[in-house]
Amino acid sequence: MDHIAQAVQILRAGGLVGMPTETVYGLAADACSPLAVRRIFAAKGRPADHPVIVHLDSAASAQAWGRWSAAAQALAEAFWPGPLTMVLPRAGHVLDEVTGGLPTVGLRVPAHPVAHQLLAAFGGGLAAPSANPFGTVSPTSAAHVRAAFGADLKVLDGGPCAVGLESSIVDLSGPTPALLRPGGVPRRALEAIVGPLGQAATPAPGTLKAHYAPRTSLLLTDDVVGEVARLEAVGRSVAVLPAGPGHAQRLYAELRRLDELGVDLLVAERSDDLDMREAINDRLRRAATGSGVTE
Ligand code: TXA
Ligand code: MG
Repeated sequence: MDHIAQAVQILRAGGLVGMPTETVYGLAADACSPLAVRRIFAAKGRPADHPVIVHLDSAASAQAWGRWSAAAQALAEAFWPGPLTMVLPRAGHVLDEVTGGLPTVGLRVPAHPVAHQLLAAFGGGLAAPSANPFGTVSPTSAAHVRAAFGADLKVLDGGPCAVGLESSIVDLSGPTPALLRPGGVPRRALEAIVGPLGQAATPAPGTLKAHYAPRTSLLLTDDVVGEVARLEAVGRSVAVLPAGPGHAQRLYAELRRLDELGVDLLVAERSDDLDMREAINDRLRRAATGSGVTE
């Protein structure tokens, strides 16, 4: 049996599968099985009121899960398959386990070919948060997922994730579209389709101030050279995470690698990348908050 068929069998039996996507790896379960979805929360150690995104193989499939609108159609045409999650009023059949009891549901059609094959072969929605224990750095390779969940979890290896950080989340359930989480689709690309994005009335549940955190304390700065000199002068050992081309794609893998070095402090350079800086700096700010060091 090939890997996709094996994964489908596990999912149909209510089990979990590590699924590559273009953003980060997901921990997938049948979105129509309350038991299977509960298993995700148990495996991650995630609070039950944090909703999970439902992944579909096409916009046509997604329409059965949330109330469609002109804005949803326009965004789907522009960015699906791709790193965009839309929050829509949920359809009647959507489980409370998936939405955390909210009246809305997050939907995404991922662009990764292996995710697409899996979704098409499974023939339904897959609930999938990022495949990392709650609060830790998201996985961008199959090895990251295996390291976290052990050899018993079936992980489809789709190589390193091309985007490298999570999808942008746009809430279309309110009077005006709002950006709940910056991510793989830049704000200005989204605004070119739906107009100015409002602030989230409430942050997405689970988007905590401290999140995506390495164990080592992290300092976010524009002045890496100055900070390193200052820290080394007082005897602290540091490792540097520079900005630059490919920053988003290698961000999480680098955070993991530097976290293993055993230095006192990670010094991360604030991104000025036109497209990705909002998402990169958002994740780095959360990582810094989680580490207990302020900017
Ligand atoms: O790129 C991604 O989005 C990855 C890949 C696997 O698709 N998934 C991901 O899932 O990042 P997770 O669970 O780590 O983050 C999903 C975020 C959470 O902050 C959750 O609160 C929010 O999406 N979310 C999901 N459904 C929502 C809803 N109905 N209303 C508001 N926020 C929602
Ligand atoms: Mg996550």
